[in-house]
Amino acid sequence: MILFRKKSDLIIRRDDLKKNKFKIGLVPTMGALHEGHMSLIKRSIKENDYTIVSIFINPTQFNDKKDLISYPKNLTKDCNYLDSVSKDIIVFAPEISEIYDENLSIKEFNFQGLDKFMEGQHRKGHFNGVGTIVSHLLEIIKPNNAYFGEKDYQQLRIIQQLVIENNFPVNIIGCETIRERDGLALSSRNSKITGSYRKFAGKIFEVINYARINFNSMSLDEIYSHVNNFFDNIENMELEYFTIAESEFLVPVNKKIIDKKYRAFIAVKLQEIRLIDNIALN
Ligand code: PAJ
Repeated sequence: MILFRKKSDLIIRRDDLKKNKFKIGLVPTMGALHEGHMSLIKRSIKENDYTIVSIFINPTQFNDKKDLISYPKNLTKDCNYLDSVSKDIIVFAPEISEIYDENLSIKEFNFQGLDKFMEGQHRKGHFNGVGTIVSHLLEIIKPNNAYFGEKDYQQLRIIQQLVIENNFPVNIIGCETIRERDGLALSSRNSKITGSYRKFAGKIFEVINYARINFNSMSLDEIYSHVNNFFDNIENMELEYFTIAESEFLVPVNKKIIDKKYRAFIAVKLQEIRLIDNIALN
């Protein structure tokens, strides 16, 4: 593992790799690495000559300051973890000033409506922040392949759109969600769930998996009301949204149309920790 903190040093290394026609894989992260991130990193190692993992808690994608301040961070631990996977991994962990000016200026994107619902609706400005950092990383690293998790499916679709709109010469590769035994999707935020609250977190997968299992036999209204009642009866959890949307354009639906693909999306607060998940329904 080799660590770069400066953009200029990373660019020198990138030029060297490009000159030698090495294939570069990029895995953008915000650190506090877990097996979910590792699945992307291992895939990148397999499919490229060199893998660059960026670790940067991107301030402009946090609409809630408290969430930004409490976001878990431990660069040394992350680097040791990466080193145990491969000595060849390149880590890019810049300071904020390497990426942003003093005003934390962000770009405005046209995501063709993909940002209209779910996370885009509940976290104002979030996807412009994500788009700003990801387009910046693609511009400075110029990877052949970049890896994103289906855990953040709306983000994955938005990045695919951003790459088309900006003609970035990169393949965006979506990777399946890695889960705990009880179905809870791995997330850096899970480390903040304490003691007895942990068992409630498994309910998130339970409910979206219920939607998946019953998707063919139930109407969407029946599924929606089951999910809403389910959370009404759990004191410790607050349902922010449960939405069934068509998988390509991410428009919420109340009725199924044959031949279309759908996914269920959910955001829940447990102990003030915001957890999201989604699942393919058909
Ligand atoms: P972060 O939450 O650190 O996630 C980095 C990448 O890991 C994302 O592509 C995310 O979808 C993927 N990931 C997280 N948990 C996963 C899991 N359980 N299974 C599979 N993949 C998982 O997403 C971000 O950071 C940021 O928005 C970023 C893209 C880095 C821009 O700042």
